[in-house]
Amino acid sequence: MAAITMNNIIKKYGDGFPAVNDVSLDIADGEFMILVGPSGCGKSTLLRMIVGLEDITSGEMLIGGERVNEKAPRDRNLAMVFQNYALYPHLTVYENIAFPLRLQKTSDTEVKERVNQAAELLELTEHLERKPANLSGGQRQRVAMGRAIVRNAQAFLFDEPLSNLDAKLRGQMRTEISRLQKRLGITTVYVTHDQVEAMTLGDRVAVLRKGLLQQVASPRELYENPVNLFVAGFIGSPPMNFIPATVGEDALHTPFGDVTLPESRSVDLAGKDVVLLGARPESFEDAAVVSDTVRDHGLTFDANIDVIEWLGNEQYAYVPYDAPEDIRNQLAELERELDSEAMRTQLVVSLDATSRIEEASVSALWLDLRKVHVFDPSTGENLTARTATQSTSAPA
Ligand SMILES: Nc1ncnc2c1ncn2[C@@H]1O[C@H](COP(=O)(O)OP(=O)(O)OP(=O)(O)O)[C@@H](O)[C@H]1O
Ligand SMILES: [Mg+2]
Repeated sequence: MAAITMNNIIKKYGDGFPAVNDVSLDIADGEFMILVGPSGCGKSTLLRMIVGLEDITSGEMLIGGERVNEKAPRDRNLAMVFQNYALYPHLTVYENIAFPLRLQKTSDTEVKERVNQAAELLELTEHLERKPANLSGGQRQRVAMGRAIVRNAQAFLFDEPLSNLDAKLRGQMRTEISRLQKRLGITTVYVTHDQVEAMTLGDRVAVLRKGLLQQVASPRELYENPVNLFVAGFIGSPPMNFIPATVGEDALHTPFGDVTLPESRSVDLAGKDVVLLGARPESFEDAAVVSDTVRDHGLTFDANIDVIEWLGNEQYAYVPYDAPEDIRNQLAELERELDSEAMRTQLVVSLDATSRIEEASVSALWLDLRKVHVFDPSTGENLTARTATQSTSAPA
């Protein structure tokens, strides 16, 4: 096991395109790090540079404190688990796990000892004589991990290992990988563009956009204190709402009424005409279910409820609104970058399951202003996050 350190890593492909642009990242020994971002942001390129399948244009890659830039993949002793697990169908589970040891001409006694140990750990002992075709998806994945374990690899690297599975199996495998990683305590780097995986699996998440590192933080920190519009819009489903607001003398004018931000959320707005207020769906509520003591902390407003989606344990309301054209363009731009659905001028708000708000009605909603973010639309910077504590360092 080992820590992985990247110092100012740049990757330019033949055409000079910087696929990874000056990325510095410290992954602690035993840490589970997620690399996430939209298609083409450089996740796979970064992972392939760790394993050694791709040359590093400049910068330094350290594994266990040792520079590996010039080392061949086989000398880095890392285990890459691919999407299709690459198991040998004609070999038993035992021989599939033993495969790397056979290549190294390890003695039969030692092979037996290490395979049995790995099988024990992975709960595969009773399947050792079976063939991969007769195993479930989860069991196959464990075999692939077993092969990585017997090699005593320094780290596990995954590139979207679950992307071709159906939703249910994906959920199961996610839990499985998380459980195993915790049990084994092996440094793990996991690439995904699925933000549910990103939020549930890792100790920390590194968000990439166009080869640039945006933020490295725990899932909670990313969710609660995204540093910019990109991270705010990428993490969370349904995504954060962005509401245009004109900066007035002593209030922000929004399509839903005037807003005065509480002390904890106040930011320096000098010289700014327009800002974007960010509010997660759950920061809204049906005003009718908000108690009087809490109501004062937020904005109560009448909303045109277009559609209600009732999901049993919660419900979402869709509230279209008007915004100036330049704001609409900006939201559309962000939507394209995020590869996301609907960043339209429409609020998506989460309502208590007991709420009786109906479709096609005008109803009173409430927005908790203590949870609102303020973004500079020109730079995308989250002005409220600047004051919040950032946890970009490795966990102790
Ligand atoms: N062999 C290559 N030659 C030239 N450019 C490449 C090569 N491989 C990747 N790129 C470019 O580098 C950028 C990053 O690619 P990469 O495969 O790392 O993205 P990714 O984040 O893994 O995306 P995805 O989610 O689609 O897998 C892309 O713009 C891609 O076009
Ligand atoms: Mg990729």
